[in-house]
Amino acid sequence: MEQRQINTVEETLPFGEKIIIESWNHRNIDIETYKSMHRGTLTPEFWEMVANELEWFKKWDKVLDDSNPPFYKWFVGGELNPSYLCLDRHVKSWRKNKVAIIWEAEPVDSNGVPVEVRKLTYYDIYKSVNRMAYALKRNFGIKRGDRVGIYMPMIPQLPITMLALARIGATFTVVFSGFSADALADRLNDAEAKLLITANGFYRRGNVINLKEIADEALEKSPTVKSVIVFRRIRDLNVRMIEGRDYWWGDIREGTPENAYIQPEPLPSEHPLYILYTSGTTGKPKGIVHDTGGYMTLLHATMKWVFDLKDDDVYWCTADIGWVTGHSYIVFGPLMEGATQIMYEGAPIYPNPDRWWAIAERYGVTILYTSPTGIRTLMKFGDQWVKRHDLSTLRLLHSVGEPINPEAWRWFFEVVGNSKCPVGSTWWMTETGGILISHTPGSYLVPLKPGTNGLPIFGIDADVFNENGQPAKPGEKGYLVIKNPWPGMPLTIYGDPQRLIDTYFKKFEGKFYAGDYAIKDSDGYIWVLGRADEVIKVAGHRLGTYEIESSLISHKAVAESAVIGVPDEVKGEVPVAFVVLKQGFDPSDELRQELHQWVRQTIGPIADPSKIFFVSALPKTRSGKIMRRLLRAVISGESLGDTTTLEDQASIDEVKIAYEKLKTEIGG
Ligand code: WTA
Repeated sequence: MEQRQINTVEETLPFGEKIIIESWNHRNIDIETYKSMHRGTLTPEFWEMVANELEWFKKWDKVLDDSNPPFYKWFVGGELNPSYLCLDRHVKSWRKNKVAIIWEAEPVDSNGVPVEVRKLTYYDIYKSVNRMAYALKRNFGIKRGDRVGIYMPMIPQLPITMLALARIGATFTVVFSGFSADALADRLNDAEAKLLITANGFYRRGNVINLKEIADEALEKSPTVKSVIVFRRIRDLNVRMIEGRDYWWGDIREGTPENAYIQPEPLPSEHPLYILYTSGTTGKPKGIVHDTGGYMTLLHATMKWVFDLKDDDVYWCTADIGWVTGHSYIVFGPLMEGATQIMYEGAPIYPNPDRWWAIAERYGVTILYTSPTGIRTLMKFGDQWVKRHDLSTLRLLHSVGEPINPEAWRWFFEVVGNSKCPVGSTWWMTETGGILISHTPGSYLVPLKPGTNGLPIFGIDADVFNENGQPAKPGEKGYLVIKNPWPGMPLTIYGDPQRLIDTYFKKFEGKFYAGDYAIKDSDGYIWVLGRADEVIKVAGHRLGTYEIESSLISHKAVAESAVIGVPDEVKGEVPVAFVVLKQGFDPSDELRQELHQWVRQTIGPIADPSKIFFVSALPKTRSGKIMRRLLRAVISGESLGDTTTLEDQASIDEVKIAYEKLKTEIGG
């Protein structure tokens, strides 16, 4: 049987390999010097220096309130507003007419030329945001502290909406446009959103997705939402509009004065800017709440150190704003720094696998921030698609969201970056607000290593602990921890503060446990290997296996289910489901298809298992816990290891048979 080793990926990592980019005009530095400088930055006072670079309406009285850990408060007494930082400040400067967003829609003409491109200046966005803020405040009565849901595709109106809400101090929650009606309803309900802002539809891979229809289905189950604003993204797409509840964005805009001005609310530093739902090990997705002052401070720092953003750069983060990467590194980070950036509506391989490279060439992209899945997807189509385009403007590359395998790293470095751009793998998570571990070519650049995350950034005390809470030895696999409070850390979990303590600060008393396996090499570089819990990263999207199991179990035919993540060459990981049917239901291809469809409808296409196996029992311990480890071993062809706690040996034999059978049916 083919041996696919899941737990020993680390053995193939090139720990010792070092690459120094001499041609690059930034400050190369040796590892020990970086580490000694880094040691001097692990204090709140260091972060105070960074925060001083932002424009505050009122400075803080206290840098860090640590009286009630882990509910830390940064820059207490300080007041600021993200919309002011991202817009007003630039509008008052020479950047007023600088292009902020170059937006390209997905559709192309018969020559492959995009049919719709919009360039919005800082002043354009400023005016739009003010008009939107005006309407939200005057027509909808939205005020500081209200929660508003956003369910929008990758169009400029999405950042405009976020900035308008931030301007008036409403706390927003963005739901990824690929999530289903149920997933949207859950989030709107948990956040008790009063208003939803959405679009009629959008383009994806040449198809029109009717977003409003999905939103309507969700709204039937979201009683707190009283009004809906709909942006007409697709002119000819007619959607149902409910009188007294649904309003067209365009109509609302018509009703606001052209020069509307809404004063940005002076928000306390610890004001909740947004809630973003993310998957955990158990239960429903958690609403991570981010503050305002600490969050903006971390973004400012990382835009400088990690992205080295300059005024003449053309920056492009390919993430979707529905995930944290887009919140931090499309909306608040780059706009605060006055960047010119690309926003693209559609799929990377539409109409051809060179769409990204065509975009990079068309606008002269200099900084590219993308995902390992994106890189692997395009790598598969071959170098010729890249070589067709002049990518000589690129100077800096980074990836995020999942571990990058050294092979993909090398391709990105050599083929895309022509061996002249630093390539980083920035580690962070929804909870951290911004990048915490990464190469920092904007300040000092230590040697690169293919596949590593690098050293913690200034101000961040990260380590790898073993099971006993002791620092792991170099090369020993352990758990990633952040040992000091940092600006950008979560304020709380919405409606469930205890969960913040239990999930992140219990395993290693008082220290932030990220839930990732990692290794620290002998140079102190951190290599994050993947999740240590039942969370999986499918194409970089974070999903709980528990959520997929719950979805399956909610189907009338399913009695029990277990979902695991298995390695996938392109997507990093994909979910695979084992299902026990209820009495009276028999396994069939039809039912299997129905279950695939069910998961798509209850969570979204990204959660759809790559395979569903029917079994009559799941391998469990005597106390009834599903032994997912054994399921993973069967799929990967590894030895089962210790099975003495297994209650019923037959169950695992059955899993093996089901697996072999499906493999032959679908040809491997
Ligand atoms: C994983 C995404 C390895 C990790 C910003 C983390 C990474 C989870 C990297 C958070 C990286 C993120 N190398 N793994 N550079 N970046 N991860 O909340 O498992 O969607 O815990 O935030 O992604 O996912 P989230």
